[in-house]
Amino acid sequence: MTTALVPGSFDPPTLGHIDVVKRCASIFDKVVVAVVRNPSKNPWFTSDERQEMLEEHCTWRNVEVDCFDGLLVDFAKAVNANVIVKGLRAMTDFDYELQLAQMNRHLSGIVTMFVATKPELGYLSSSLVKEVARFGGDVTALVPDSVAVALKERAGS
Ligand code: PNS
Repeated sequence: MTTALVPGSFDPPTLGHIDVVKRCASIFDKVVVAVVRNPSKNPWFTSDERQEMLEEHCTWRNVEVDCFDGLLVDFAKAVNANVIVKGLRAMTDFDYELQLAQMNRHLSGIVTMFVATKPELGYLSSSLVKEVARFGGDVTALVPDSVAVALKERAGS
């Protein structure tokens, strides 16, 4: 059985993230979406909130969502993941993602694979979505509807 681990901050999950999970769900036997509990950036949403958002929108039968602390490779071992999958939007992601992939390979030998994100969502990031939401911009085409509502509430608080 092949298990793919799709890790991230998901603060919040965007339609780009969900597309990557969907494509993994059609390729691998099992997909574990792994929400980092304490991302380096100050999150808008708690890890429980981010997990709930993903659970609501990643309803494919072979997808689970979980939170993790510490090293990703330790979590990968704990859930018997064979591969880490990350979305790549553009070359600007590549240097950083390659560094992470090589460090994770050094630490545990695990393979990382990259999924090219939908071209029409190539400019999309959680940080930009928060920036737009902070100033009252429309994010409804970029995130699921319930996430757009949560962003609006958080931006106003
Ligand atoms: O959505 P992001 O911010 O690109 O996700 C980054 C993430 C969570 C995948 C990365 O920061 C991570 O793996 N953090 C866990 C700590 C860790 O293992 N660090 C070493 C990786 S080289």
